[in-house]
Amino acid sequence: MPATPSVKIGPLKQNEIQEADRIVRLAFGTFLGVPDPLAFMGDRHFMAPRWRSPHVKVVAARLDGRLIGSNVATRWGSFGFFGPLTVLPEYWDRGVAQRLLEATMTIFDRWGVRHTGLFTFAHSAKHVGLYQKFGYWPRYLTAIMTRAPQPQPAPPALLSSLTGPRRRQAMEACAKLTHKIDNGLDLAGEIRAALSQRTGDVVLTHTRGSLDAFAVCLTGPGSEGGEKTCYVKFGAARGGAGAGDRFDRLLDACDAFASSRGAAIEAGVNLAREDAYRRMRARGYRTAMQGVAMHRPHAAGFNHPGTYVIDDWR
Ligand SMILES: CC(C)(COP(=O)(O)OP(=O)(O)OC[C@H]1O[C@@H](n2cnc3c(N)ncnc32)[C@H](O)[C@@H]1OP(=O)(O)O)[C@@H](O)C(=O)NCCC(=O)NCCS
Repeated sequence: MPATPSVKIGPLKQNEIQEADRIVRLAFGTFLGVPDPLAFMGDRHFMAPRWRSPHVKVVAARLDGRLIGSNVATRWGSFGFFGPLTVLPEYWDRGVAQRLLEATMTIFDRWGVRHTGLFTFAHSAKHVGLYQKFGYWPRYLTAIMTRAPQPQPAPPALLSSLTGPRRRQAMEACAKLTHKIDNGLDLAGEIRAALSQRTGDVVLTHTRGSLDAFAVCLTGPGSEGGEKTCYVKFGAARGGAGAGDRFDRLLDACDAFASSRGAAIEAGVNLAREDAYRRMRARGYRTAMQGVAMHRPHAAGFNHPGTYVIDDWR
């Protein structure tokens, strides 16, 4: 196939979101051999809520003005990740993804993020080879796990129920907790987006008023989880002695939230976070799919045995 030098790269426009969403479903559905590719991801929406979020940038590839691909860069403070990266199947293997990735690397440079990553298909030589060209290296698997939640005796504490200074203090406590896990890691953008767009909530757990753990849970119409899934986009327990127990209580709180919404839980964990993964398995989480986390630079970041973090970088 000839290369496509006339492809133009620029920010995705609002009137292109729907088509970008269609290309995401078609590209993944085609790659995975789903019988009806456009049915991929059902009622879950990754493009529209991310496009509306200030901590996210979406880049588009156009040929003669027609959208043919896109990529999404997300910033969590000093850490950035990208995806979903998709190209219309009829334009595969012509260098379009590489043009989108060049623009994505420029965004990361501008943000000044220290560490970046992505989640991809471990079995695909094309995917791993493509990202290696941009300095990424495959490290541990990430398991995307699911579970039917157990109803809990107590309702979870939710950030949406706090207002004014109490909400601000809780957000500062979340930032402090993640900074300790990895210097500069900050979920403020993700938290604000979930609350302002009403695409989810933040579950909080405490001991004597001090924050032990939190999780950004996306669920409901138009969200990344959709109506049937409570997608834990990010969750973390404070590290150090007792971190495993704090993580267990966070998982209880996620159960309580998901069951209150009548949704199944989906939560990803990198297998470098060994005890976190084992605890999730022990309480009945099953792996629905797994992929590999690729990092730039080739360093652990917050994927190591001492971290009690849920995320998957999709
Ligand atoms: C993955 C996807 C975005 C790639 O888009 P694309 O435009 O076809 O990719 P490009 O043509 O820019 O780059 C392909 C590169 O893959 C690499 N590659 C392909 N086959 C390879 C192999 N067998 N071994 C090593 N590297 C390989 C090469 O670097 C190749 O580029 P080069 O030939 O110029 O060196 C596209 O196939 C897609 O939309 N797939 C479905 C959705 C998806 O999987 N998204 C990514 C999820 S992480």
